Amino acid sequence: MHLYVALWVCGTLLTLLLGWQQRKCWRLIWQLNGWRGVAQQPLLWFLLCINLHPNSILAKVTRFRVLFKRPLAILIGTRALLYIDDPAGMECVLNAAECLDKTFMQDGFFARKGLLHARGKLSRAEELRVSPNQLNVVIEGQKWKLRRKQLNPAFNHNIVISFFDVFNSVGNQLIEQFASQSQLHGDAVKFKDADDMLSRAVLEVSCLTIMGTPTNFTQTDDAHIATSYKRLLEIIAIKTIKPWLQIDWLHRLLEPQLFAEAEECNQLLVDFVAQIVQRKHRNWQLRNGLDDAAEDGTWQRRIFIEQMFQLAANGELTLQDIEDEAQSMVLVSFETVSNTMMTALLCLATHKGDCQERLRAEIASVLHGNDASYVGLEQLQQLRYLDAFMNESLRLLATIPMNLRHVSRDFLLAGRNVIVPQNTMVVLDTFNMQRDAAFWGNRSTEFEPERFLQHQLDLEHEQEHCEQSPGEDTQRRHSYSFLPFSKGLRTCIGRRYSFFIMKVFLVKLLTHFEFHSDLKLEQLQFVEGISLKFRNADDILFQIRPLKHK
Ligand code: HEM
Ligand SMILES: *[C@@H]1O[C@H](CO)[C@@H](O)[C@H](O)[C@H]1NC(C)=O
Ligand SMILES: *[C@@H]1O[C@H](CO)[C@@H](O)[C@H](O)[C@H]1NC(C)=O
Ligand SMILES: *[C@@H]1O[C@H](CO)[C@@H](O)[C@H](O)[C@H]1NC(C)=O
Repeated sequence: MHLYVALWVCGTLLTLLLGWQQRKCWRLIWQLNGWRGVAQQPLLWFLLCINLHPNSILAKVTRFRVLFKRPLAILIGTRALLYIDDPAGMECVLNAAECLDKTFMQDGFFARKGLLHARGKLSRAEELRVSPNQLNVVIEGQKWKLRRKQLNPAFNHNIVISFFDVFNSVGNQLIEQFASQSQLHGDAVKFKDADDMLSRAVLEVSCLTIMGTPTNFTQTDDAHIATSYKRLLEIIAIKTIKPWLQIDWLHRLLEPQLFAEAEECNQLLVDFVAQIVQRKHRNWQLRNGLDDAAEDGTWQRRIFIEQMFQLAANGELTLQDIEDEAQSMVLVSFETVSNTMMTALLCLATHKGDCQERLRAEIASVLHGNDASYVGLEQLQQLRYLDAFMNESLRLLATIPMNLRHVSRDFLLAGRNVIVPQNTMVVLDTFNMQRDAAFWGNRSTEFEPERFLQHQLDLEHEQEHCEQSPGEDTQRRHSYSFLPFSKGLRTCIGRRYSFFIMKVFLVKLLTHFEFHSDLKLEQLQFVEGISLKFRNADDILFQIRPLKHK
């Protein structure tokens, strides 16, 4: 009898304790979704549990989100998960100092010691290395802020402009690769093969622009560096969605093969970058000893790796920091750009008549009979339809479908008057927001680049008639309804870079080949692979025909 009483007391105490720990989460759920929010928790847990896989999560979120009132809060243990898919909510989170950090789910990321994942307080050792004139930055306690400040100069306008030579020379090699593939396989170039060619070319560009090191990747990749990066990212996606696999011994126990494969890829890529960085560093030190005098003048024009070496010379970074940062930068720059290029090719190939012809006509009118062997900034600036085309493909098929943030302190979700408690995980669903009819009209899932041109015309028109009352503003698009590169404090550092390389490549491809595919964009099955992947990619075939030149 005494035993039962003791058990009952213990149970009640534990429940009370848990409830106390969860009280802020329940308040959030109540404030956002009311009684229904509280009652639907078991359903949400069930849906989460059965769909916890990269292959299904994106499709299932797309299917089920409409059934719930959003923003949606889910209780997970003693934390809340907050799902946001509207522009106002995104704006609030992306600009909140409390939402700068990444979540623990992203800790399984390979190369997570770079800017992309930087967070929290500096470690003691790092603090000691920072030079005195940066102390103000340190006091705010954010490693990210300091890093971002250190790296911004490496992606300024002038530096990125200086990459056009690289974009063009590698782009020309890519054309040769496409030509030989289309000769070999005629009408049926597999998605996988096109992806492989593109990825290797973009990786070569990354090595040149990020690390200043020539490689042969566009021609060959015998060491399988590009494929290893891609494979590792797939594994990362699994580890993000199933965070318990981030515990090494558990991962090894549950999925020994996957674990071994991840270790192998990891080692290959760590060695690959370490070797380049170390060699570059030796050369840089030798050279730097010679032209110390020219120092001040060249400060403004350092590419990423040189900028890092300079910081190391000032004692602000170690060689290990540089290797970590370079690893992360090569990975993000090459994977995102090559994926976006593939989705752009899909959009081209499925819209041959309308938009591909229009693009080709625009390019022809800008090139004036030149053969696109060198595409410069002045030309890109005239290609407005190409710009709209890129935007539309980034809108409909967002390369980074979801974004996660950790809430480091309680904060107010403006507009809704709701306090989001500390430790909440915020999921920003860019993918579904960018296809939502509420923000993009009833043709929101159609591929229509014209919507961006029209929008620009509207904006210009509005500027001319700015004296008019802002009453008709209802049609105006929210500036956070289009977020392919995120926005706010941690916006993508490589946005300009990406647009330039992708447009240079596209102009070249479009002047040399005609693309076609029998696929319809609606048939794509979406996979959350950190970046957007397609489950039915193996079924996609491209017809790539060389264009006859006069
Ligand atoms: C089409 C190509 C690209 C897309 C769609 C893209 C998208 C994004 C997005 C959505 C974020 C925000 C991630 C988050 O908040 O969790 C981001 C961050 C970042 N991107 Fe990109 N990106 C692209 C290309 C690049 C390139 C080419 C580079 C480097 C040269 C780059 C470097 C970075 C870095 C360093 C961050 C982290 C910034 C920070 O946390 O301060 N990205 N990118
Ligand atoms: C690139 O490949 C060519 C032949 O395919 C070879 O002659 C050259 O040495 C390679 N260069 C590098 C840096 O590996
Ligand atoms: C495409 O999107 C960017 C923002 O990412 C914007 O600055 C640009 O004006 C857009 N282009 C068009 C044609 O709307
Ligand atoms: C879509 O919206 C347009 C104008 O906003 C309207 O004329 C049209 O009837 C709508 N179509 C459907 C299927 O709702």
